[in-house]
Parts: sequence; C-alpha cells; structure tokens
Amino acid sequence: MKQFVVFASVCCVLLAGRVVLSAPAPQQGGGAGGSNNVETVKYYSENNGQDGYRFNYELSDGQIRSEVGTYRDVKDAEGKDVKALFVQGSYSFVGPDGQTYWVNYTADENGYHPKVGTGPTGGIQPGQEAPVTSA
Ligand SMILES: *[C@@H]1O[C@H](CO)[C@@H](O)[C@H](O)[C@H]1NC(C)=O
Repeated sequence: MKQFVVFASVCCVLLAGRVVLSAPAPQQGGGAGGSNNVETVKYYSENNGQDGYRFNYELSDGQIRSEVGTYRDVKDAEGKDVKALFVQGSYSFVGPDGQTYWVNYTADENGYHPKVGTGPTGGIQPGQEAPVTSA
C-alpha cells in the first residue's frame, strides 16, 4: 500500500509537470493584425563598459528598437569634470489601430528628450540603427 501511494504521488508529480510544461505560454495581443506569435526577427547587443553600449531588435509584429549609449565629459554642479551617459535611441511599433507610432529620443544630464510621430515614415525603419541624427 505504501509503495502504491509513493508510486501514485510520483505519477501525479510527473503528470502535473507535463501539464505545466505543455501549457501554452501566456501571450499578449500584438499590434499588427493582433498576431499572438511575435518572433524576434533581428537582435544585436553589445556592452562595452566604460565605452558605452548598443542594442537593436526587430520583432515580427513590426516593433523596431535601436539604442546607443556613450559617455560624455561634462561638468557637474560644482564645475568638476565628470562622465555623463548620453543615450540616443529610436523605437517604433504598430498600434492596435494599425498605425505606426514612432519615438526618437535622446537622454542626457539634462533629461529625456523625445520626438514622437505617427505614420510609416519619419521614424526608424527596418534595418536602420540609432543614433538619430537630429535631436
Ligand atoms: C528618427 O530616427 C531615425 C533613425 O533612428 C532617423 O532615420 C529619422 O530621420 C529620425 N526622425 C526624425 C524626425 O528625426
């Protein structure tokens, strides 16, 4: 009897594990056509420590993002030389309404500076990379 209980428990654990493993992952409704199968089309990431970083990705639902961060020499409030992170980036995505929304931004010691727009042109395009040229 004891052996059966142990056996039954092991079965339950295995079965439960199977159910959990085979359950579909929760997904969010995507933009373009409400597709639930969003895949990474392109991905690149580079971290150069004190020399900054860069990453890009494109998803099959039309999301694109690219960002580059570098350090610049600036003065702090007391006039001392310090390094400040300077970020330039772009992202764009297709909303539930089918429109393309894009944001180009920079961020530095003075804050976040976004430039936003809608429509297929104006923002980052597939295959394109930050930095944005005009701030
Ligand atoms: C936004 O950034 C992309 C590159 O990331 C650039 O090609 C485009 O001209 C920028 N748009 C504006 C309005 O600055």
